[in-house]
Amino acid sequence: MLLRPEPLRHAPYADGPPEFAIGLKPIAPEAWLEGGEPDPAARKDPLFAAARPLVWGEAEGSRPGQQEVLELISAVTPVEPRPDLPPLYAAARAVADDLCLMEKRGEAWTLTAVSLSAGSFFTAAEALGRRLDQLHAPVPGFEDRFGPRVQRMFDNLPEPAILERRNWTVVNSGALHAPDIAAIRAEIPAIAPHEAADRLHLRIERQTLRRLPRTGGVLFTIRIWTHPLAALRDSPDHLAAFARAWRAAPEAFRAYKQLALYDALVEAFLRAEGE
Ligand code: HEM
Repeated sequence: MLLRPEPLRHAPYADGPPEFAIGLKPIAPEAWLEGGEPDPAARKDPLFAAARPLVWGEAEGSRPGQQEVLELISAVTPVEPRPDLPPLYAAARAVADDLCLMEKRGEAWTLTAVSLSAGSFFTAAEALGRRLDQLHAPVPGFEDRFGPRVQRMFDNLPEPAILERRNWTVVNSGALHAPDIAAIRAEIPAIAPHEAADRLHLRIERQTLRRLPRTGGVLFTIRIWTHPLAALRDSPDHLAAFARAWRAAPEAFRAYKQLALYDALVEAFLRAEGE
């Protein structure tokens, strides 16, 4: 089934010039998961069957935490009972979001189970078993500026709190499952400037964080919303905010996300729209 997200539900580019930041804000419990995909299992099951190492992984000893994730998800949406499947995957089939179980192994918060059907340029096999600092090794400044704070946040997150953060990038694909960014970017030279509106996509990530009260783990959810740049035409405010954020993005951010690859196409789109 084709996923049709609502137009421009989130506009993180409107928060100002993009930067690397923790940016976590508390949200109300009823705002936890956003729904809007009628049958996530129809999208996730074929990947689970055919590309398992890209989209699924579990470490030994993670089943109690996975079971708790299943209970949390079951409390907010109906979950088809599937005792034949690992509990975290049974839960993930019921929601549009990807689910990451973080547990403390020794001193370090570690990814112990993951259902990653809409991975943004990484795979479950690469991420499973990695600590927070290892997961973020490519992120400029993460280790020095954020690492200890994020670790403390995972340590101290109070049970009822749910936190949210968002980020955005531009990519020449609207596919949710995007494990291989090199293959996607190889197509850029074939895109004509007048095609930019339809072939370049805003890829917006909404993440949430909450404590698992019984096992003490943390559930990290990732929801991807993609929109062709053309969706910005619906709103002059969004278009202007995106243009400002694109042009003000600091060099480290541009380099990390390789935005220079898209400069000519994005500028062609913005100019055609009067920006
Ligand atoms: C409070 C929690 C976290 C914070 C503040 C955080 C922060 C960040 C930031 C700043 C980036 C760079 C892109 C962006 O702006 O988002 C990033 C990338 C990433 N994060 Fe996190 N993160 C958190 C939790 C996690 C968790 C639990 C995972 C486990 C799967 C994870 C996996 C990744 C990966 C794989 C990347 C891409 C790294 C790459 O470029 O290869 N993050 N994160």
